[in-house]
Amino acid sequence: LRSAALAAIEGAADGDALERLRVEYLGKQGSISGLLKTLGKMTPEERQVEGPKIHGLREAVTGALATRKDALDSAALEAQLAREVIDLSLPATGHRRGTIHPVSQVMDELAEIFADMGFSVATGPEIEDDWHNFTALNMAETHPARAMHDTFYFPDADAQGRRMLLRTHTSPVQIRSMVEQGAPIRIIAPGRVYRSDSDATHTPMFHQVEGLVIDKGIHLGHLKWTLETFLKAFFERDDIVLRLRPSYFPFTEPSVEVDVGWQDVTGPNGSRRVLGGDGDAPGHGWMELLGSGMVNRRVLEFAGVDPDEYSGFAFGVGVDRLAMLKYAMDDLRAFFDGDQRWLDHYGFDP
Ligand code: PHE
Repeated sequence: LRSAALAAIEGAADGDALERLRVEYLGKQGSISGLLKTLGKMTPEERQVEGPKIHGLREAVTGALATRKDALDSAALEAQLAREVIDLSLPATGHRRGTIHPVSQVMDELAEIFADMGFSVATGPEIEDDWHNFTALNMAETHPARAMHDTFYFPDADAQGRRMLLRTHTSPVQIRSMVEQGAPIRIIAPGRVYRSDSDATHTPMFHQVEGLVIDKGIHLGHLKWTLETFLKAFFERDDIVLRLRPSYFPFTEPSVEVDVGWQDVTGPNGSRRVLGGDGDAPGHGWMELLGSGMVNRRVLEFAGVDPDEYSGFAFGVGVDRLAMLKYAMDDLRAFFDGDQRWLDHYGFDP
């Protein structure tokens, strides 16, 4: 039995086979267990002879099982290590590199252009309170301009009893900057804004960049120069012409809508509309681009800036719109679909 058992254990192919052998020899019904039971029926003399033999046999088998188990375990480990080896010389499998979204790209371009003019970037919360989004911008509770904003309101007031909403424009960052840092100020504030509005040219979330300059002696000429310099740099054209039209925003006085001249350029692939040139020339036209104006005295007062000492201008422009114009994209909704092919095509190299 001894040599048969040891040979069988030595030859066990895997853990399962080894376990079957353990049961066969040492289990309750096992052959060695059976032998041990016979000891009880033996005479003391017989037991003195047979006892050590049977116990020795049990120890030998137990030891052999343990040895074989170790061997099988380390073989399994070796095999696993061999399987999992990483060949660093293999070419990497195709990991796709992401692209910079056109909106992010344009925001970076804006920050860079305005940094050259001494502006820093300010931010504010997208979940805003009624006071910053409307009241301090000279839109009282009953102001009709509020209705034009299609505001997403939160159903409940916050802990301080403030009515909360998703900001409908980046203009509340004007208020926050003035309250927090006081005058003088030279900032742009890019970010997401929300309006309950959705069609081919409107998405419920879109992007704006706000500009705000507050200092002594700021006038409309500074506004026009700043916008002209910015748009020439952004569209990379020296022939950008602006037209300022009187308009109305509650938070600016006077308010001006800014149009930019365009022209149709005929090339080998037909006619293309590009920005640049006097919109009044034949074959040219004007496109409405942004809203702006001199910061209303009331707004300066709301934000704690003395309107007799300081004046300023502000503007707000759609970032998505700017991206579409500069990079010839025609469907705003595609911006936010996350379609991989669109991102590959219109996205920028990181
Ligand atoms: N907040 C205005 C809008 O969203 C734009 C604007 C900003 C107009 C600053 C004037 C000054 O339409």
